[in-house]
Amino acid sequence: MRALVLGSGGREHSLVWGLTRSASVDDVLCAPGNPGIEALAECIPVSLSDVEGMAAIADARDVDFVLVGPEQPLVDGVVDAVAARGRLAFGPTADAAQLEGSKRYMKDVLVAAGVPTAKHAAFGDADETAALAFLETLPGLYVVKTDGLAAGKGVIVTESIDEARDAVRAYLSGAAFGDAGRTLVIEEGMRGPELSLLVVCNGDPDAARPLAPAQDFKRIGDGDAGPNTGGMGAYSPVPVADDAAVERIMGRAIRPTLHELARRGIEYRGVLYAGLMFTSDGPKMVEYNVRFGDPECEVVVPRLTTDLGALCRAAAAGEKMPDITFTDDACVTVVLASEGYPAAPRTGDAIDGLDAAAEVDGAIVFHAGTRRDGDVIRTAGGRVLAVSATGPTLQTARTRAYDAVDRISWPGAQHRRDIAAAVAGEQ
Ligand code: AMP
Ligand code: GLY
Repeated sequence: MRALVLGSGGREHSLVWGLTRSASVDDVLCAPGNPGIEALAECIPVSLSDVEGMAAIADARDVDFVLVGPEQPLVDGVVDAVAARGRLAFGPTADAAQLEGSKRYMKDVLVAAGVPTAKHAAFGDADETAALAFLETLPGLYVVKTDGLAAGKGVIVTESIDEARDAVRAYLSGAAFGDAGRTLVIEEGMRGPELSLLVVCNGDPDAARPLAPAQDFKRIGDGDAGPNTGGMGAYSPVPVADDAAVERIMGRAIRPTLHELARRGIEYRGVLYAGLMFTSDGPKMVEYNVRFGDPECEVVVPRLTTDLGALCRAAAAGEKMPDITFTDDACVTVVLASEGYPAAPRTGDAIDGLDAAAEVDGAIVFHAGTRRDGDVIRTAGGRVLAVSATGPTLQTARTRAYDAVDRISWPGAQHRRDIAAAVAGEQ
């Protein structure tokens, strides 16, 4: 079977890695890919905003299925474009991807499905007064989000109502995030540990199956200081999310959501990523995404013992999926980012130590934002590498991941030192 992965980040590197270890897959292509992926798969240049171009590659290369990494092509309809050519794609259609493409739509679905979530309201650019008034009704922790996609950076969580008011004005005027922010969602802030649960769906709400739970570290700095990012590290398994907790989430949130989507005429296929918070009132849904999480994928895929290719192809085809199984090993990933990330990442620096890092027992260096310049690999994005390591315990996996991280350097590189520290008993 031949698979085509769409994307160019650490998530896609880990998916390609997983497919190369799948017995059902004998040929893996990636478009556009990155220098890390090139070592495992043929990379084909394409723009991730060129939906027809991506579908045309699937056709020209006669692939058995396409695995879509990032959200933007999903929201733009790449799955529909691939299907129009009579081929399979693992991912939701553009209609279904609205679950991530519009937070207002997602909140409507959550409420209709009866899934616990934060108190919230949505406002358009004519509603500034109403938006500011709604802020006043919230108790102490304010959340302002763009309705549209903003690469994980369109969310402000603050105890300062002045900062929240400034965000409302900057979003609604288009100054902060352009059109993505001209509609916004204001929410009551929730507190508690977060959980990312990636669920594989084949269109039948009752057949959806969870992958291993993971926890992501969203803030740029140690101790959760500073602004939100796309994610600075992750680990799996997550001790608070035992099998019983996962089954409760499946029963109270995931299946009701998939049934609500079905009621709206949407047969959801692909990954449904549930971002949850364990609040003092029980688990609540923070958000849904319509794809694998990044960097969650980089800790979930290395633990997977099911054939990733067979799983994704069956789900894409709406067929019965193989059972999903994992090793008992833990996995930790630490993201290395450029100086200035997330506001203004500097790129173009030469990266040292990639080979030495890959020699650490259990370590895998996934490329996220890199480019090749002759024999040199240079930084080419905000998040540059995701350094994953497996081990028999979270503590060993964490030690190995940081051992590998410490072998890599470039000017201004930044990373968190506390990924999985608390759960590994080191904090
Ligand atoms: P989202 O893009 O909606 O996932 O938000 C990104 C991150 O912002 C989440 O993973 C949380 O860390 C934080 N966040 C979003 N909504 C809330 C909320 N209502 N309360 C507390 N934190 C939130
Ligand atoms: N790690 C968060 C995300 O993928 O949205």
